[in-house]
Amino acid sequence: MDVQIRPVREEDRHAVMELVSQLTEGVAEWRDPDAVVEAARQWLAGYFTPAPEQSGAVFVATAGGEVVGMVSVNTHRHFTGPEEAYIGELAVAPHAVRMGLGRRLLGTAEDWARRQGLRHLTLETAAGNTTAQRFYAAVGYREEAVRFTRVLE
Ligand SMILES: CC(C)(COP(=O)(O)OP(=O)(O)OC[C@H]1O[C@@H](n2cnc3c(N)ncnc32)[C@H](O)[C@@H]1OP(=O)(O)O)[C@@H](O)C(=O)NCCC(=O)NCCS
Repeated sequence: MDVQIRPVREEDRHAVMELVSQLTEGVAEWRDPDAVVEAARQWLAGYFTPAPEQSGAVFVATAGGEVVGMVSVNTHRHFTGPEEAYIGELAVAPHAVRMGLGRRLLGTAEDWARRQGLRHLTLETAAGNTTAQRFYAAVGYREEAVRFTRVLE
């Protein structure tokens, strides 16, 4: 598959919004999966048109003119002080998984982070998303923290 990775454009809006519907994978039963998708869509909405005030970036993978994957990356401050890169969303179309696109998209986000002069790239994934956990471990990411939640009666 001849894959190109490039910054997102306005014409990608529909395809990217479709891809993020997969971000409910493994979401905890006490969270609203629709709210997860809606939050991602709202965050991405500002990125289809380049604007000087944008602090992060969104990239898409295309094959034969079709958007088959996306990644968003931004910065945030770790509680110990340093500014870090942070992956907001990463999704590959179901028919295009296990072809190396996830790895390439992450690599593009890593290059972006290096260009910002950042030393760490971090992300969170749902405890139930075992596919993503296997993927991140396979492409060189190391587990750093585990978050616990108690649902209060
Ligand atoms: C997680 C995801 C982005 C991986 O994308 P991908 O394009 O399939 O990943 P790659 O093809 O680059 O895989 C790289 C390596 O990761 C590992 N990997 C990927 N998917 C895996 C799976 N389902 N099971 C076990 N290992 C897996 C493998 O080691 C793989 O290398 P290999 O295919 O040579 O064995 C994709 O499955 C996806 O979009 N899932 C739904 C959305 C999601 O959960 N996003 C992450 C939210 S934080």
